[in-house]
Amino acid sequence: MIGGNKSMSDASESLLDAQNITVSFDIGQGKYKRVLYALNNVSMMIAPGEIHGLVGESGSGKSTFARAICGLQAIQGGNIVFAGTTLGAKRNLMDRKNIQMVFQDPYASLDPRMTVKSAISEVLLRHRVVSRGECERKCRELLDMVQLSESFLDARPGDMSGGQRQRVVIARALAVNPRLLIADEAVASLDVSVQAGIINLLMDLREQHNIAILFIAHNLAVVRSLCDRISVIYLGRIVEEASRDELYSNPIHPYTRRLLEAVPRLDGRHTVLAPNESEQGVIHLPDGARGGILKPDPMVAGSPWTLLSLDDRRDHYVAAVRDDSVKGKSNKPNRSETQSEMY
Ligand SMILES: Nc1ncnc2c1ncn2[C@@H]1O[C@H](COP(=O)(O)OP(=O)(O)OP(=O)(O)O)[C@@H](O)[C@H]1O
Ligand SMILES: [Mg+2]
Repeated sequence: MIGGNKSMSDASESLLDAQNITVSFDIGQGKYKRVLYALNNVSMMIAPGEIHGLVGESGSGKSTFARAICGLQAIQGGNIVFAGTTLGAKRNLMDRKNIQMVFQDPYASLDPRMTVKSAISEVLLRHRVVSRGECERKCRELLDMVQLSESFLDARPGDMSGGQRQRVVIARALAVNPRLLIADEAVASLDVSVQAGIINLLMDLREQHNIAILFIAHNLAVVRSLCDRISVIYLGRIVEEASRDELYSNPIHPYTRRLLEAVPRLDGRHTVLAPNESEQGVIHLPDGARGGILKPDPMVAGSPWTLLSLDDRRDHYVAAVRDDSVKGKSNKPNRSETQSEMY
């Protein structure tokens, strides 16, 4: 849910209810000093067991949002409610346990000198999940959960493939029974076939343990098979949010459309998106959608956009400003009309 209009689902059902999260950084020096809004009023609700995709190109604010939810990044505005409790700037052990994060590079997340058993045991003991005597049994159980054989107990990161390392990182995150797992580009560095294996694993984990997952990716192809709902983020703002099927069959925001059309680069890392003239035009709503004629978010800091519900039935939101000046006009823009409505 975007823009602070709480209507996506009943808040009491949500596991995570992040409202209007704003994060800014002071950047530059001297007369070039300015404030960069990495997140501008970003809201999202995730239900228990939901897999929610957060998709946007590099620098759009995905990791900043993930870090804010985990308490690793201070927020300048907004409110994070987790399982009915507002989380403060300082997180207690239980808060930290409930929200676990898996990063893109499994090699960097694991100490190359530590065996899998010692890496997982360290977390088990720190969070007092089991006694020292029970550690090995629990490690075997966790490896089984991520579909790795127990022969990996004594392996070190250098002995494993990228996919196996990422499974170990996921096992370590699961060691503390989190309720929300944040996977920040967790499959981006892996081969496509290995990515599919990890995605299947995440789906199984949700199925069997009802873990909610915030799955972060920079293109819409990866999230398609996995996510129940998807939020699209652009320059620190959510521009569209809908269920997976609705978003793919009826993308409204020009940026979402471009993301869907964009061809990922061979390195799989960044999708290059050139500015598009149509981004400045009128958004055409599907027949029956509420909200009248909308303009897309002009994507200028401080612009008066809001998240508008397109259609309650489909629970689909898009960042736009309601444009009374074009009310009653044809829903089809001609070129001059589109130009005159530019910001
Ligand atoms: N500590 C910081 N100081 C200054 N600027 C920052 C800091 N952290 C993030 N940023 C800026 O905030 C914006 C969002 O960064 P973020 O890392 O959240 O993007 P991202 O969507 O995760 O990108 P990627 O896909 O490359 O991981 C970027 O412009 C980034 O340069
Ligand atoms: Mg990132």
